[in-house]
Amino acid sequence: MILVTGGAGFIGSNFILGWLSKYSEPVINLDKLTYAGNLQNLSSLENNEKLVFIQGDIGDTRRVRSLLQEYRPRAIINFAAESHVDRSIHGPEAFIQTNVNGTFHLLEETRNYWTELPQREKDSFRFLHISTDEVYGSLEEHDPAFSETTAYAPNSPYSASKAASDHLVRAYHHTYGLPVLTTNCSNNYGPLQFPEKLIPLVILNALRGQPLPIYGDGKNIRDWLYVGDHCSAICTVLENGKTGEVYNIGGNSEKTNLEVVQTICSILDELQPADHPYSDQITFIADRPGHDRRYAINADKIKSELGWSPAESFESGIRKTIEWYLSNNDWIKNVTSGAYRNWIDQNYSTRVNT
Ligand code: NAD
Ligand code: TYD
Repeated sequence: MILVTGGAGFIGSNFILGWLSKYSEPVINLDKLTYAGNLQNLSSLENNEKLVFIQGDIGDTRRVRSLLQEYRPRAIINFAAESHVDRSIHGPEAFIQTNVNGTFHLLEETRNYWTELPQREKDSFRFLHISTDEVYGSLEEHDPAFSETTAYAPNSPYSASKAASDHLVRAYHHTYGLPVLTTNCSNNYGPLQFPEKLIPLVILNALRGQPLPIYGDGKNIRDWLYVGDHCSAICTVLENGKTGEVYNIGGNSEKTNLEVVQTICSILDELQPADHPYSDQITFIADRPGHDRRYAINADKIKSELGWSPAESFESGIRKTIEWYLSNNDWIKNVTSGAYRNWIDQNYSTRVNT
């Protein structure tokens, strides 16, 4: 079986749903269930014996040790992290705790477990660490896209904590020979994404007649990848990636934030027309401190060495995503109650309109 950490979050839950629809190999999901973890994401697998859920922290060494001994996974895929840049600006400590200390403890327990495995299992074992393109810092308009050899230059507490975790993973390979793989992926979007990130936030605010908040001038650029494509890339790297290597994953879809928001508005105008164009709700607000200008991914390595490329274009993926949010009201109601509102107040109430 495989061990997935953070499997109740956005990408982890999409990964588990995809995995169990394709393979019969069981999955253990270790998740702390922070505000971002939601077991409802996996409710369609409630009675599936191939999925074991364990609530726990990747930094809880005793818990991790005992579950490795009990379930003896052949691979670990580490999604667990604090993942939101704006939250890392308001409160960086949790990012250091989970992304740095948590990854360290998980690596240490994995090393102890892996060292004791019989040689054949040892050779085939994999630790796949899921990381982000944000570790490479910010690009200017005409700079070449990030490749696997671009120097790290993280700018936010989030990206710095992910960079630290990537370095630890690298060091465990170099020093102890742990068979690790690292993937650095661009911005994901798709079903089950918590609506504090740009795309789901804009879809829900639009439908509620609320402002569509754009930081700064809206010209920051991100490369967008449909989450199903990210999951297929992870499966490819897990099965065929070379240990110790890093693979960049991207969607060949660089867009300004304004383009993203305008695309969402025009699809909503078509699918759920209001008495005004949704773009009338666009509001420019104070910028994010230290806001990275542009991310772009050169994904030639994963394409040429492992044969992976994305199946969705931004246009097809964003339409599917909007359709999913339009038809999953219960999920939306549950995740936007309670603590969610506190975050929206904290992040937006003090930002002046520009
Ligand atoms: P998410 O915030 O939606 O989910 C994170 C999950 O990890 C949650 O279920 C949470 O409960 C769990 N978790 C947090 N701390 C934990 C801990 N200490 N122990 C166990 N579980 C813990 O994040 P996501 O968007 O699904 O991202 C998953 C991974 O992919 C992260 O490592 C992130 O850095 C990386 N990534 C995300 C994106 C993106 O656009 N979302 C892009 C590239 C890489
Ligand atoms: P986000 O989804 O938070 O991802 P990341 O910061 O990891 O790239 O933000 C995507 C882009 O959208 C980023 O440039 C910040 C911007 N943004 C807004 O303009 N308004 C918002 O309300 C949010 C949440 C993000």
